[in-house]
Amino acid sequence: MNTDALLHSFSLPSKAERDFIQLVSAKDCTLVDVNGKKYLDALASLWLCQIGHGNEVVISAIKGQLDLLQTYNIFDPFTNGPAAEAAEKIRSLSPHPDGRVFLGCSGSEAIDTVIKFARLFQQRRGQSDRQIIVRRASGYHGVNIGGTSVQGIEGNRVGWGDLLPHVIEIPNDDIEPAARLFAEHGDKIAAVISEPVQGAGGVIPPPDGYLDGLRRLCTDNGALLIFDEVISGFGRTGEWFAAQTYKVTPDLITFAKGVTSGYLPLSGVIISRELADELENDDYGKLMHGYTYSGHPTAAAAALANIGVIESGGLLQEAHRIGEKMEAGLKALAGDGMIKSYRGIGGIWACELGWSGLEASRAMVDKGVVCRGIGEALAFCPPLIITDSEIGTIFDRLDEVLREH
Ligand SMILES: Cc1ncc(COP(=O)(O)O)c(C=O)c1O
Repeated sequence: MNTDALLHSFSLPSKAERDFIQLVSAKDCTLVDVNGKKYLDALASLWLCQIGHGNEVVISAIKGQLDLLQTYNIFDPFTNGPAAEAAEKIRSLSPHPDGRVFLGCSGSEAIDTVIKFARLFQQRRGQSDRQIIVRRASGYHGVNIGGTSVQGIEGNRVGWGDLLPHVIEIPNDDIEPAARLFAEHGDKIAAVISEPVQGAGGVIPPPDGYLDGLRRLCTDNGALLIFDEVISGFGRTGEWFAAQTYKVTPDLITFAKGVTSGYLPLSGVIISRELADELENDDYGKLMHGYTYSGHPTAAAAALANIGVIESGGLLQEAHRIGEKMEAGLKALAGDGMIKSYRGIGGIWACELGWSGLEASRAMVDKGVVCRGIGEALAFCPPLIITDSEIGTIFDRLDEVLREH
């Protein structure tokens, strides 16, 4: 298009609009650009489109809600059916079926909310010195000021001036430094934030015992454990939440992306019953937090329909099938010495190439397969409806790219 108005996310501001790939339509796992070229979406947009594109059930639920009540806020005294029902459904699937659910639009909003919540609970417990948020190396938690401060990807943190104070980083592969940090500062730590499987940092599943270790340290020291399940939630690891996959229950969970498969923006924070009891205490007064679009009825209707599609399509089980196929394919490539290593779980995988992931992802896109280069790795996170034959296409193209390098 002949315009330079649009400033693209995580892109060079000088890159011309015409040099981007202009998508015009999508169905299931196939994207179509303005020239009619087709791409296999092996990244589910940005780790989010669990049910694939163009799902009629979700589209008609959205259209139906648009005909009734498109938008309204849920500030006191208002509510709406889809928001209340979506919150009920989401908590029923989570490790906190009797907890409460706060809704926002983006993962970044959920993260800034959860940081405020963690500190709020500590303040209200009379622990006003507990302000430290512990982040993990390579963690990604969005780009609002809180999420920027608590993410472990340095390149995203620099250049913005001062970020949040009271943030300390721990390694992502060893629990011992975390134990030492708690031994030293345990009474000042408000919360630890961690993706169960790190996504944007390179698809890094947790080392054995690491998440349990964080849980134990938090419990023993009066800190809260936050799982950022913006990518891992809603089926990606083969359960509704990765907390269930890894059998570790955090106090607070953030979600976004897969909750609507991205058909409309929705995110949120799930809080445990124990924390909800503290909030519901009458002495508390009003929750002085909330967004204009919290509880947006049309986004909530999209979530309900999307969750229904995940359930009726058995997509949690499909994540296990995808995991088996991806692992087998990557294992074969590693066995042939074509890649250095691989890692992942369910519907999220990466392989270590030993050369530029960005270069590899560009070559893959040229060949019609969308995946993501991260450092020297290539990441895959397809819709959970991807077929075995489409997974075969990913490996056919990957094989070509690796041979041509
Ligand atoms: C784990 C995690 N948390 C938070 C976010 C931020 O979400 P959003 O881009 O919707 O603000 C992301 C986005 O990729 C993410 O992967």
